[in-house]
Amino acid sequence: MKGKRILLGVTGSIAAYKSAVLVRLLVKAGAEVKIIMTRDACEFITPLTMSVLSGNQVYTESFNRETGKWNSHIELGMWADLFLITPATANTIAKMASGICDNLLLETYLSARCPVMLAPAMDLDMWKHQTTVKNIRLLTEAGVKILSPDSGELASGLSGEGRLREPEDIFNSVNDFFFSHFSLNNLDVLITAGPTYEAIDPVRFIGNRSTGTMGYRIAEVLAARGARVTLVSGPSEAKLQNDRIKKIEVESADEMYDQCMQHAGPARLIIMSAAVSDYKPQDVSSVKIKKENSEKEISLIPTKDILAELGKNKSAEQVLVGFALETNNEIENAKLKLKNKNLDFIVLNSLKDQGAGFGTQTNKISIIGKDGKVTDYTVKMKGEVAVDIVDFLMPSLKK
Ligand code: CTP
Repeated sequence: MKGKRILLGVTGSIAAYKSAVLVRLLVKAGAEVKIIMTRDACEFITPLTMSVLSGNQVYTESFNRETGKWNSHIELGMWADLFLITPATANTIAKMASGICDNLLLETYLSARCPVMLAPAMDLDMWKHQTTVKNIRLLTEAGVKILSPDSGELASGLSGEGRLREPEDIFNSVNDFFFSHFSLNNLDVLITAGPTYEAIDPVRFIGNRSTGTMGYRIAEVLAARGARVTLVSGPSEAKLQNDRIKKIEVESADEMYDQCMQHAGPARLIIMSAAVSDYKPQDVSSVKIKKENSEKEISLIPTKDILAELGKNKSAEQVLVGFALETNNEIENAKLKLKNKNLDFIVLNSLKDQGAGFGTQTNKISIIGKDGKVTDYTVKMKGEVAVDIVDFLMPSLKK
């Protein structure tokens, strides 16, 4: 781990002592470790211990009383290659999920641009409580990697899930993050999302009900894992949290085509999740079309198939992923698209499935590979589906 910069956040749990062992392991492996402790964490383990083990000053307050200077949460977040919060209490998890920043650790989380990993520690009922479950889901959707707690004896005397993972185990996860499948260190990715609008006249267009959410969530997960993401988006209200994602706004299929051709070259992974219009009006009126008391026809001509074009020009290293929204003969149709467009994978949404498709918070997908293998998933929130898609693609990106 030589040269890797790890910012360790420690919160007020009896398991805080385990982070001392973790710091030793990280430092021994060559990592540079800086530490932020909450006030409650200092009740369980002293900043002096952590300072000696890390060889660095430990940060506990937003303001340094001795030097009279601010401890810049922005600088700490910028410095780190990874922000690892362990142990993370239910309280800190809840605050992170709702954007509260009443201490240095939380301020740093909100402004951190690096990937964030979190190892929870709490009593079993707190871990199972629906609020904690919801908060963990929100953080997962925001791209935070959760190291789920172990099951075993707890400080309360009860036994069950909630026990902080052992330091060696957390160390291995950090090691995996840097050197194995979890990290996408500066891998170039191109993603499309949202609908396209095909103009009829200056005020009217042909569009569809895509919200862009699925593509935006995939972009977030990839960026959180260190990828350099370019997102070409049709008109969408969806929001991005990670400002490292380069967003290019387009309106029509032609504009999306141009931007994709421009940015596909260096991309190792291309995911076309946009609902690109298959047709556009043959003629676009330059003035607003007036109402007449007669039938009106609009001639439509096909748009360029961006995905098929990318498939034709695909390099040996590129992994190309398409989306298919089907209502019947789903698997068969999706496989045909995969073959015709020269894709590596296709993500299938079936409109027959409840909770799948446009305008819903949830989605249900199957991923089909070139080899014909179909992997089915259950209905999940779109942020969780994004994690599933990225996890699935990881092995192909490491080859
Ligand atoms: N796509 C594209 N350019 C187009 C149309 C679609 O890149 N002009 C991409 C979509 O982003 C998606 C995949 O192709 O990844 C969907 O394939 P497509 O054949 O368009 O699916 P449908 O529109 O559902 O086709 P059909 O109406 O034949 O089912």
